Amino acid sequence: MSRLTPYRVFEVTVFFCVVWTFLTTLCWTWFLWTDHMVKSSDISTVQEYWEPVVRLESDLLFEPLRLQNPLTRVSPRPKVTPVYIVEEHHEVLTYWYNAANRGLLPTQNNTLFHIDAHQDGASPENWQAVPFFRFPVSEHEIRLMMQQNDAFIFESVITGFINRWIYVFSSWDPEQKLEDDYLIYTKYIGAYTMASENKTNAICECDFEEEQRYCMLQIGDRESQQSIEIPPDHCDIKRIVKTEYMSEQKAIELLKTTDWLSPTENLVLDIDEDFYGCEASCMPLYDVGILEPEIQMLKGLIARIFCPMNTLQERKLDQIFYRLTQRFIGWKPNNQNKTKFLQEKKEFIEIVIKEVETVVDMNKVQKCHRNTLFRAYLRMLLKKFEKYTDDQLRALGEVGLCLGGTPKAAEFEYQRGARICDGYNRPNESMVYFHTPTVQEIIDRTIQLGEILQLLPEPDVVTICRSMRDGYTPRKFFHKIEHDVLKLLEDNFEKVTNDSVHYDNDLLGGRYGWPDRHEV
Ligand SMILES: *[C@@H]1O[C@H](CO)[C@@H](O)[C@H](O)[C@H]1NC(C)=O
Ligand SMILES: *[C@@H]1O[C@H](CO)[C@@H](O)[C@H](O)[C@H]1NC(C)=O
Ligand SMILES: *[C@@H]1O[C@H](CO)[C@@H](O)[C@H](O)[C@H]1NC(C)=O
Ligand SMILES: *[C@@H]1O[C@H](CO)[C@@H](O)[C@H](O)[C@H]1NC(C)=O
Ligand SMILES: *[C@@H]1O[C@H](CO)[C@@H](O)[C@H](O)[C@H]1NC(C)=O
Repeated sequence: MSRLTPYRVFEVTVFFCVVWTFLTTLCWTWFLWTDHMVKSSDISTVQEYWEPVVRLESDLLFEPLRLQNPLTRVSPRPKVTPVYIVEEHHEVLTYWYNAANRGLLPTQNNTLFHIDAHQDGASPENWQAVPFFRFPVSEHEIRLMMQQNDAFIFESVITGFINRWIYVFSSWDPEQKLEDDYLIYTKYIGAYTMASENKTNAICECDFEEEQRYCMLQIGDRESQQSIEIPPDHCDIKRIVKTEYMSEQKAIELLKTTDWLSPTENLVLDIDEDFYGCEASCMPLYDVGILEPEIQMLKGLIARIFCPMNTLQERKLDQIFYRLTQRFIGWKPNNQNKTKFLQEKKEFIEIVIKEVETVVDMNKVQKCHRNTLFRAYLRMLLKKFEKYTDDQLRALGEVGLCLGGTPKAAEFEYQRGARICDGYNRPNESMVYFHTPTVQEIIDRTIQLGEILQLLPEPDVVTICRSMRDGYTPRKFFHKIEHDVLKLLEDNFEKVTNDSVHYDNDLLGGRYGWPDRHEV
């Protein structure tokens, strides 16, 4: 210990004091400087220009639905049939299982009457997250099931909720054409008995042909799925689901026969609004020459700037983004004098950065990064904006910004950032068939749908899916389509009234919806 003299202790202490003072000064200087940067913007102008964006509808008053304890299932059957409107199709799961929990229908063996442009009969990405041949017992389990927008039916079959699936496809889709307009088969679904302890939830499917049983085990994920044949006794069959595919005409024909669908069956009626038509929601951008590489580049930037955590922030952000495009459209710099032009441009961008940061903070929209990094990415985005024509800016404002998917899903991560709301389908590289209806076609389809609903026994629960965040339903016809569907339900079912309709909290653009949202 001879080296630790008082002199040495003094020396070390002084050294640390100097370092500490230096670092603190540095930190404070930086902090105050950046703080000053933000405060220096003219808040009153900012508010004047941006403030109306925070106006929101009052549909947030709707109570989120909670899964009740299955043991408290006592409520009597209500006088009205609930109609739940959701955005992405897998969000219906919450409402289906809750309806069973509330005693509107049984927890098992219900019939799904499904009207949709897409059959949605795919397997989920992750089987392990699906309750294995049992009813889900918590809200969290249902969130885990919300994986893809086309796997919720198969999942509901596995849990036992659905055992008859009637699917009516849209007659405008030539890829769905069937011989005789009708296809019926029975699926036998079971648990793979040879599953190792690591992979307990393996699902197998069997077919019967002339008393012979063929069983297949699915392996791999959705993209690289393979079926391998397994000995029949390795598949312990737990669910039998009767599946019927048909055209609208065939549905009307069958409903007119007395014994096809009994009024005593427990019925879930599910309508996807894309039944009327299907569009790629990136088209407004393509139309003004903002093509795929550019879209991807913009998305990369936007995902690093704005990270909304829920649909309230999603809507506020979209309104701010819309105002931002308007701000650029309204900006007319001095084009005569080059020096002056460059200077004005530079100043304008710096002003807008401050405005956006202020309004984003005021509205409590989550930023992906703080201060300097936020401004740096935003500056890159605005440098893009200044090159766009007014039409391109208008198209961007119209398509808007949204979340990548419903925040209800267990896999939702706000850190992945917002995206341009251009859906998941592309004109030339999609499995999906596109069809833009005419107004007359919508009127005709509504009449035909009315015929189906008129013949259908009163359902126990109705779900409607908007399919706009993921990009299917034609946006310019959305308001008419939803109005028509709701009107048909009210007209044809005694227990569907004005009080029946419940709008989900996470609808894109809220209760009013996405199209024309800036015009109200
Ligand atoms: C559901 O149907 C299956 C097969 O028809 C039957 O074994 C089972 O008991 C039914 N469950 C209920 C709750 O009715
Ligand atoms: C389960 O996984 C562990 C580690 O991945 C492995 O060591 C073990 O052998 C596996 N068990 C079976 C039955 O496959
Ligand atoms: C352009 O504007 C700058 C700064 O305002 C000025 O100094 C310059 O003389 C102008 N040039 C012309 C060609 O008008
Ligand atoms: C799609 O492909 C067709 C033919 O290959 C082409 O004419 C069309 O421009 C493409 N559309 C888009 C939006 O890329
Ligand atoms: C339902 O509400 C709408 C608008 O609020 C109204 O026009 C319509 O008449 C109502 N229908 C019934 C049956 O009350």
